[in-house]
Amino acid sequence: MKITSFDEYQQAYKKSVEQPEEFWAEVAENFVWRRKWDKVLEWNFKDPSIKWFQGGKLNITENCLDRHLEKNGNTPAIIWEPNDPNEHHRVLTYKQLHDKVCQFANVLKNNGAKKGDRICIYMPMVPELAIAVLACARIGAVHSVVFGGFSAQSIADRINDASCSLVITTDGGMRGNKEIPLKSVIDDALVQCKSVSKVIVLTRSRTPVSMIKGRDVWWEDEVKKVETQGNPACPAEEMDAEDMLFILYTSGSTGKPKGVVHTCGGYMVYTGYTFANVFQYNKGEVYFCTADIGWITGHSYIAYGPLTQGATALMFEGIPTYPDAGRFWEIVDKHKVNILYTAPTAIRSLMSFGDEMVDGKDLSSLTKLGSVGEPINEEAWHWFDEKIGNGNCPIVDTWWQTETGGIMISPIAGVTKTKPSYATLPLPGIQPILVDENGKEVEGNGVSGNLCIKFPWPGMLRTTYGDHERCRTTYFATYNNLYFTGDGCLRDEDGYYRITGRVDDVLNVSGHRIGTAEVENAINMHSSVVESAVVGYPHDIKGQGVYAYVVSPDKHGDEEITRKDIMMTVSRIIGPIAKPDKIQFVSGLPKTRSGKIMRRILRKIAEGDTSNLGDTSTLLDPAVVDEIKGGAL
Ligand code: PRX
Repeated sequence: MKITSFDEYQQAYKKSVEQPEEFWAEVAENFVWRRKWDKVLEWNFKDPSIKWFQGGKLNITENCLDRHLEKNGNTPAIIWEPNDPNEHHRVLTYKQLHDKVCQFANVLKNNGAKKGDRICIYMPMVPELAIAVLACARIGAVHSVVFGGFSAQSIADRINDASCSLVITTDGGMRGNKEIPLKSVIDDALVQCKSVSKVIVLTRSRTPVSMIKGRDVWWEDEVKKVETQGNPACPAEEMDAEDMLFILYTSGSTGKPKGVVHTCGGYMVYTGYTFANVFQYNKGEVYFCTADIGWITGHSYIAYGPLTQGATALMFEGIPTYPDAGRFWEIVDKHKVNILYTAPTAIRSLMSFGDEMVDGKDLSSLTKLGSVGEPINEEAWHWFDEKIGNGNCPIVDTWWQTETGGIMISPIAGVTKTKPSYATLPLPGIQPILVDENGKEVEGNGVSGNLCIKFPWPGMLRTTYGDHERCRTTYFATYNNLYFTGDGCLRDEDGYYRITGRVDDVLNVSGHRIGTAEVENAINMHSSVVESAVVGYPHDIKGQGVYAYVVSPDKHGDEEITRKDIMMTVSRIIGPIAKPDKIQFVSGLPKTRSGKIMRRILRKIAEGDTSNLGDTSTLLDPAVVDEIKGGAL
């Protein structure tokens, strides 16, 4: 399954295009199936309907856990580094992780969970988060992990959309020196959620919580009950390859976040294959992915991908700047990390604290570096390469999305020649195509266009939960017979791909996907706001910042207070990650005669580029542009 030279990559790629079914069948042979598939692939992008490994039966946790027990039971599966460096780190071997997953799977069953049920997980980065995720998969329940930074309202929306019956959370959590009262946020959310009948609460921070009789139970008590029942084993539920494995909500250009659905067989094959290849994982290496399991990167490349390969994954509870900006490097030094996979925003932020935060840390264990989530600028790329990688660790700039399930365009470490800020070449099985606005293919090299994919791959989304039509219109209806990524892209003279950023109304703030419409809806909920328009602007650390133009004729006197109030509203409705960086009060928004907001103009003003705003003659009130320009922040 592992490609070890550029020749092999080219051969694999060729085969994956010419004989995709044979190619993926061979890859899938490297996994444990209870029953082999009848048909590798059946698809059309029109409906869309995508089925991989139909008739195949499996349980992903047997691939992540059971199959490693005999030979690698004592290999560390998870090394956990706590938020507070003075607290002891924990190591869970494959055997221990297997036992804990089985135990908690039984807890879930005791609490009424069964195959097909949706379970919401809202937890900090503790090993029990991985255990909870895997325990759901063990019994065939569908997990919906919600990142610990989302608000009660966001959680309620997600729980209701999927009708979750059970929630798993902790009393609280620590991120840096901030305490997050997770259980209390869940309590606020559940006021709006009728479907939830049980909440399982893990003790983490000893934050006082209120436990509701009949609904809330402690993780530790439930585990004890299972222990006294005396049968810790939990046979894995047999799943169909196309049964749902999980839902993960992500933002788009319109409306509420949608629940991206991934299925058992294809997702397993794709995350396992891409992990093994992109990072060229060798047995015994310590692999540290700094993402949170609340995002797709954590699902695919902390939990499932690495575990299917018997890897040792380091999981970090805290933030890169606590107790100081040397923390990542300290962790690399302490645990002798070999592979570090992180985000450009973290690199830029740590870089800004100066090289002295790196000096004195022994980073010589590192052999491979990775980047994900947003375009990496050349300055950050070079600093990562020279200062962290000592000039001899290949950097894999991995482009992919929540919807793609796994890495799509990326160098293969040590195999593909890298180029700063380029995701380079498609992995085997991935057929990118650039199209112009009219959906016409842009052929040849040295060109740019909108990035689409023209053939299915096993890890791709199958639907958006509860609303297949939304999946069709969002991804498969823009261009005929193509999956549309929402990203702009250029292909250089060598055929290397460089992702240039979103071409829709989606922002990428510190690697987090935020829909402008969502932020606008939240701002508009504030009592003194009439309407608003949100755009992105270049931000040194975050990549993009959130710039809000707000029409608020009645600011109740103090502008600064209203500004803070609006920020608080966004925090409350979505979560702190969506808080605007800048709020400019305006008397009106530039609109066309048909009432459409001219975002292009607002974007340019936010970017500080007002020299050429293009044609403003079609505007209802061109004077408003001068006012906005004059008041730009
Ligand atoms: O715009 C692209 C950007 O992040 C988007 C996907 O966001 P999300 O679903 O949250 O998944 C992030 C982690 C996979 C993409 O549409 N993006 C992701 N990776 C890169 C990137 N942009 C440039 N280069 C990347 N390596």
